[in-house]
Amino acid sequence: MIDIHSHILPGVDDGATTSEEALLIAKAAVEEGITSIIATPHHQNGKYINGKQSILENVEALNKLLRNENIPLTILPGQETRIHGDLMNEFETDVILPLNHTNYVFIELPSGHVPRYTEQMLFDLQLKGLTPIIVHPERNAELIDNPDLLYKLVSKGALTQITSSSITGHFGKNIKKFTMQLVEAQLTHFLASDVHSLKNRPFRLSEGYEVLVKEFGQEALYVFRENAELLVRNQTVYKTDPSKIKKKKFLGLF
Ligand SMILES: [Fe+2]
Repeated sequence: MIDIHSHILPGVDDGATTSEEALLIAKAAVEEGITSIIATPHHQNGKYINGKQSILENVEALNKLLRNENIPLTILPGQETRIHGDLMNEFETDVILPLNHTNYVFIELPSGHVPRYTEQMLFDLQLKGLTPIIVHPERNAELIDNPDLLYKLVSKGALTQITSSSITGHFGKNIKKFTMQLVEAQLTHFLASDVHSLKNRPFRLSEGYEVLVKEFGQEALYVFRENAELLVRNQTVYKTDPSKIKKKKFLGLF
């Protein structure tokens, strides 16, 4: 199993604080059945700056440590980039790091709203050959109030990633409900842990997949897990043509 969103790199953001903690998280990943995990440190979220070069160095160092400790887990490089005005320039100057050097790039929106320039910027990224993946849309207050906005962004080529702790209900009932509606509406394409620490923000990835199977059947499990595999290989992922999404079906979402 592949986990495409994690804060396992030590000392770079609000995830793992030390190498020892990173190793404990790595061992927990193996217990979850994860074989590869993309390290996606926060970048430009107002608190942390993690550019491409330093992430690559940190990933290499952690992989070395894992080999020394005989922990069968591979760390792949990535970045959780907060949407910001200088993003395109940062892409041109090699500061942005797409997931595992593919054409897929994580885009984080602020938790309270969706900046007005979002649609244009997601379009600009696509003009550069990138596919933006909006991380945890289910936790964005404006999207919860106005899901039509997310429908619009997905219709225009963005993908989305939901978090396992949202689907398991650990972020509360409303977020769980909205997460389920996004799966039902086929407005989301990946499930990932967004692990920060074993204590406060653990994996819950297998648990998340169990909920998915219970609610939506084996096919949902297959699609989400396959999409993570396709992503790391830079292949085209499964996605429903938005024009085929029957709006009425989605519990009055639109
Ligand atoms: Fe994250």
